[in-house]
Amino acid sequence: MKTENVNVLLLGSGGRESTLAWKLSQSPRLGKLWIAPGNGGTDVYGENVAIKPTDFPAIEAFVKANGVDLIIPGNEDPLVEGIYDYFEASQVDVLVAGPSKEGARLEGSKDFAKEFMSRHSIPTARHLSVTPETYNAGVDFLETLQSPYVLKADGLAAGKGVLIIDNLDDAKRSLKEMLDGMFGKSSATVVIEEFLSGIECSVFVLTDGNGGYRVLPVAKDYKRIGEGDKGLNTGGMGAVSPVPFADEVFMQKVEDRIIRPTVDGLKAEGIVYRGFIFLGLINVDGEPMVIEYNVRMGDPETEVVMPRLQGDLVQLLVNVARGDLAGEPLTIDPEAAVTVMVVSGGYPGDYAKGKVINGLENVSDSTLFHAGTSRTPDGEIVTSGGRVIAVTSRGETLEKALERSYRSVALINFEEKYFRRDIGNEFI
Ligand code: AMP
Ligand code: GLY
Repeated sequence: MKTENVNVLLLGSGGRESTLAWKLSQSPRLGKLWIAPGNGGTDVYGENVAIKPTDFPAIEAFVKANGVDLIIPGNEDPLVEGIYDYFEASQVDVLVAGPSKEGARLEGSKDFAKEFMSRHSIPTARHLSVTPETYNAGVDFLETLQSPYVLKADGLAAGKGVLIIDNLDDAKRSLKEMLDGMFGKSSATVVIEEFLSGIECSVFVLTDGNGGYRVLPVAKDYKRIGEGDKGLNTGGMGAVSPVPFADEVFMQKVEDRIIRPTVDGLKAEGIVYRGFIFLGLINVDGEPMVIEYNVRMGDPETEVVMPRLQGDLVQLLVNVARGDLAGEPLTIDPEAAVTVMVVSGGYPGDYAKGKVINGLENVSDSTLFHAGTSRTPDGEIVTSGGRVIAVTSRGETLEKALERSYRSVALINFEEKYFRRDIGNEFI
């Protein structure tokens, strides 16, 4: 690979990818940037190309034709499907910033993740993995737990594979239904877990697969559609960083008990992992425990993490993908960042698309990261998804940053626009 002007292909089309594109475009080392497929906002930072992130042969052809040096998968699908291994086996001279297919099982299989944590004594909820053959053992295990009961489809289920059930008989019935195919093949194995009570936060780590790692700013996202954390789960309605309860003492525990054992465990087991690790954590009376691993950045957490990251993301990801983070410092801006997601009315259920978005040009206090937008042939920006635009602001405090984002949100208009008015409220 060349050492100057790194040509980057970023895969994905959401607010996370808009933010990564924004950050990458600030790097003096960036050559060309393509986003596949991108959205109505990413074409400001690079060129959108109509390729599906899981279409590896099409990506390979594009890489060869355009001299791509670095592929950055934004979402989990290409990683779980093995994009790293595909390019490792190909004769193409390109780096992939992400884990191997084996490493991506930390997200792709909850059973694999739980077994990994238990091998490395990483704190997490007690669990039992159950298949149709071991249903009775699952019922016995449920009877040892207290309400509520947590049932998780082993495989990817578009964020819908986790059930939290109050009543024991209902839990037994749901366990049966899951094993019978409620989430297709994803729930052929079900992980039953003890319920943990506490506040959640998201910790992001970049690792080079050789024991080297850097901890990125910690964030908290707001998953429910309604204010006060009520209603259906969404992809995320907003996020804040930093997270006041994730103080130095807490983060030291996270590093000692979770991050280092994870990074060292991957290396010791020979699992190739050069990329982001997303730790979904819960603070149980001051003690961090792992709720889940993801093998990518979070969305909308990226929209508050990247603005606080100082330095050159291209350089950082090249070093990660080469397996050598040594000597690469990471500086975090102490200023707060928040994002408020503006969504289409009806989301996460049915919603309209193609609504013209007005007022974007009036926003000057915030950075707009497009999520579900597209650009019409005559240049209008219209809605094309449930989550439409992430409105990110900086500030000395979370409160100041939130004031800015809410002022900006008020300037953006489209039919049936919705947003939560209580992002970060618990911290001010
Ligand atoms: P996951 O897909 O594993 O992140 O689960 C989705 C959500 O379910 C999490 O963000 C938590 O809010 C909740 N959850 C998952 N596992 C547990 C658990 N063991 N105890 C309490 N809540 C949980
Ligand atoms: N915000 C949670 C996620 O990206 O999975």
